This record gives sequence, structure tokens and C-alpha cells, in this order.
Amino acid sequence: MNRRIQAWLLVFVAACTASEGTPVPRQVPITTTSAAPTTPVAPSTTVLLDPRPGAAGVGDSLYGELGNGGYDVAHYSLDLSWEPATTHLDATVIIEAVATHDLASFNLDFVGMEVDEVTVSRHVASWERDGPELIVTPAAAIATGERFTAVVSYSGPTRPIFTPALPVPIGWNSGVDGEQFVVAEPDGARSWFPVNDHPTDKARYTFRITVPSELFAAANGTLVETSRTGATTTYVWDSQDLMASYLATVAIGDFELVTRRRAGSVAVRHVLPPELAADSPRALELTDDIIEFFADLVGPYPFDAFGIVVVDAPFPALETQTLSVFSEDIVASPIFERVLVHEIAHQWFGNSVSPADWEDIWLNEGFATYAEYLWVERLEGLDAIDADLRRATLAVAELPPPGSPPATDLFNGAVYVRGAATLHALRLTVGDDAFFRILRRYYTEFRDSHASTDDFIAIAERVSGEDLESLFVEFLFTEGAPSFP
Ligand code: ARG
Ligand code: ZN
Repeated sequence: MNRRIQAWLLVFVAACTASEGTPVPRQVPITTTSAAPTTPVAPSTTVLLDPRPGAAGVGDSLYGELGNGGYDVAHYSLDLSWEPATTHLDATVIIEAVATHDLASFNLDFVGMEVDEVTVSRHVASWERDGPELIVTPAAAIATGERFTAVVSYSGPTRPIFTPALPVPIGWNSGVDGEQFVVAEPDGARSWFPVNDHPTDKARYTFRITVPSELFAAANGTLVETSRTGATTTYVWDSQDLMASYLATVAIGDFELVTRRRAGSVAVRHVLPPELAADSPRALELTDDIIEFFADLVGPYPFDAFGIVVVDAPFPALETQTLSVFSEDIVASPIFERVLVHEIAHQWFGNSVSPADWEDIWLNEGFATYAEYLWVERLEGLDAIDADLRRATLAVAELPPPGSPPATDLFNGAVYVRGAATLHALRLTVGDDAFFRILRRYYTEFRDSHASTDDFIAIAERVSGEDLESLFVEFLFTEGAPSFP
């Protein structure tokens, strides 16, 4: 059959299915009654010549199956009901997205749990699971540029998943005291909700978390509503700033919400176990100073809030957006201040400017590590940090250079230390004035978005007016110890 006729037939069949499909009850309360719905059911007048499946991955160089093509998510609304006795999650996610080509079907990344039902723009959709992919075929194809709403109801026991990137459980975790928390970098968001799981598709998030009333539930952003119904309480957190999926978190447990002095327009609030709420470590009171230090250096703090949540985490900390997860051990240790500086610096570098590809991870870790050095430099001086960085760089000389990290050891020491050394070498080459202008320019140009190593090099060359190719090749891509300028 002629391809074009075949396509027409498909449209016809899809349109018939759409009109005969079982309408499902609305998942979202619609307040306007007379106005046309904002996400119309694919109208039978729409002619889609060649709808095709969205890609199963975005083509990340290290983790090819992550993310999906064919659509762009604007908003995730996560309605989660979690039961401690069974560690069972009952959930609905409402995904508002726009098709970027005519879509016959599209994929979401999702691992574990049971999918109960999927609808697309209020019609039941068919779906199948294939490893980490949830493949959704709507009743009618979706046209390029069309907004659609996919609703997935799912349930099951919460548990972490394994990642090729590092040997710790990621995604939904639990601690010794029964506290629940999400640490998902790089590919663990798919352990707790169906998602376009790649930092190139940022979205806004709303979380409605229902738990027994003796527990507290937190997530990224601002607590906008607390409502008690019988024995359960629902906490609604709103994250209005764009966020990469690996930075989404929830925390459930015996926590207190502790509000501190604002740092400018930033609400500083922490989610702490009672012992720490009553007696918090001294370094935590530096939060607003640290935020102001980097805001002066780089540009305005990207989000409306910052704080930490302290849990029994399987590694020191994760920079989850506006609410970074810290392990109890690190909070009690002498390096807590340094780690706090690191995770706060990530809010600019990693969270607001996110990696375009996981291969660009040094743009997160090298920057946050160099930020620690800058914080130390303000008290100890440039010579002290210069000597320290040279020593540390030699110590990681045997590791793969940070510009091409191995998929199986994404967070190796070179990504942090030699990543920071790359920025230090850049600073020594172009001088302080140009260096800080590069940082500010890079942040201004890529905030709320994503950037690649090439994007950063281009900015550095443009701002400094110098050819920096050989410096970046030596520090980021050449085996063996690099030599500092
Ligand atoms: N981005 C984190 C940090 O440097 C490291 C996280 C390593 N672990 C992980 N599960 N991603 O603070
Ligand atoms: Zn980091």
C-alpha cells in the first residue's frame, strides 16, 4: 500500500477510535464550564500525514535509553499516597506536554511498580512495558505542537533501583529510622514516576503527598497547602522553577520544617529530624552567607528557596533542587560546611544550568568543587587553594580525564578535582576579571536550561578573546597529569 494512503487510513482509524473510545472521568477539576477545554481530544478534522512513534531515548552518549523523543514536558503533577505499614505507594502522575512531531505513540521512562491505567487527553490509551520504557499509544495520534495531558495511575512497593553510574541504590530510598527520600542522580527518577528522564527536558512540578498524620512530607519548592483528613495529612509542594527530573525529591518521616532568615528573596528552610531541629550544626547557619557569596560572584540565586533535608543517605549529599539531601553522617562531620557550599553552588551549576549530556558531568562537579575552593580562598587566600588543587590534581592523574568519564564510574574523583583544576587553569590563563565574567556570562546565557562542554568553551573564548582549545584539551581530554599555566 502506498505510504501516504496508509497514513491516511491510520488517521481515519485513529479518529474513529477516538470518538468511540471510553471517555474517562476527568482527573483534574476543570473550573471553567463554558470555555473550550485547554487540551482538546485530537479533533477528527486534524490530518496527520505521517504520525510516528517518539524516540525511546534522547541519544545521551553514556545512557542511551534515558529520556524520550517526540514531546516536551511542561509540568508534572505527582499525587502520591504512601503507607508506612506496607511501604506501598498509590500514585497518579499528570503529565502536561507538547508534541514536537506528529506522534503515533510515545515513551516514558519507568522502572518497577504496576501501571493501572493510562489516559491521554481524557481517553483511555493502550500501553505496554518494555524494560525501562513505558510505551503509550493514544487513541488518536497527536499533532505537532498539540498540547496533551497524559495521566498514569500506578502503585506498588517503593524501592531503589541500580544505576550503571555508581554502586549505590538510587531513586526512592529508605533509611534506618524508616524515613523515605529520593536521590535520583543520574537515572533514578524513573524508579518513582513515569518521566522523560533526561536533563534536557526540564519541567515544573507540583507534589501532593498524603501520609499518616504523624509523618511530615516535603518536596522541592514551597509548601503551599497542608490539609488533614481523618488520620492522613496531604502536603502540597509547588516547584515553579524549571527542574531536571534527577533533581526532584520527596522526603517523608518524623521531620520538622525549620524556617530561617531569608537570604534576600530566597526562603531558607530546612527539613530536619527533631534532634537536629532542636540543636542544628553551626555551619547550617551559614546558609544565607553562602547563597549571598555566590550570588555576588555569579548572578542571582536561581530559585525561590533553599534548604537541606537530613536522612540516612547512602552517600554524603545530593543537590536536589531547593531541598538538598544530606546524610546524617556528613552533617555531623567536620566537612559539613564544605559539602554545604558544594550543594549550594550546584543550584547555579548543575540545577539551573544542567548538563546537556551526562558526559558533561564535570560542568556540575568541577564547578561545585571549584566553588568550595573559592569559599576557602576568601579566608585562606589564593596561594593556599592553588597549592591544594595542584596536589589534588596529581593524586587523580591515573583516572580517566574528566571530559570523557566512564558510564560505569560517572562520579570518579577526576570529574570533581580535575574538573575544578580546569577552571583554575582557565582562571590563571585569562586572569580574574575575564574568568569571573566567563562564569557570569555562562550562567546568564544558560540558566533554566542546559549546556555542553563545547558551550562552555565557546563562552570562555568569546568573553576572553583567547584561543583556549589547547588548555581545555589538556585538562579535560588528555590522559596523565595536566600541567598548570
Ligand atoms: N552530585 C552529588 C554531589 O556531588 C554526587 C552524587 C553521587 N551519587 C549519586 N547517587 N548521584 O554532591
Ligand atoms: Zn556535586
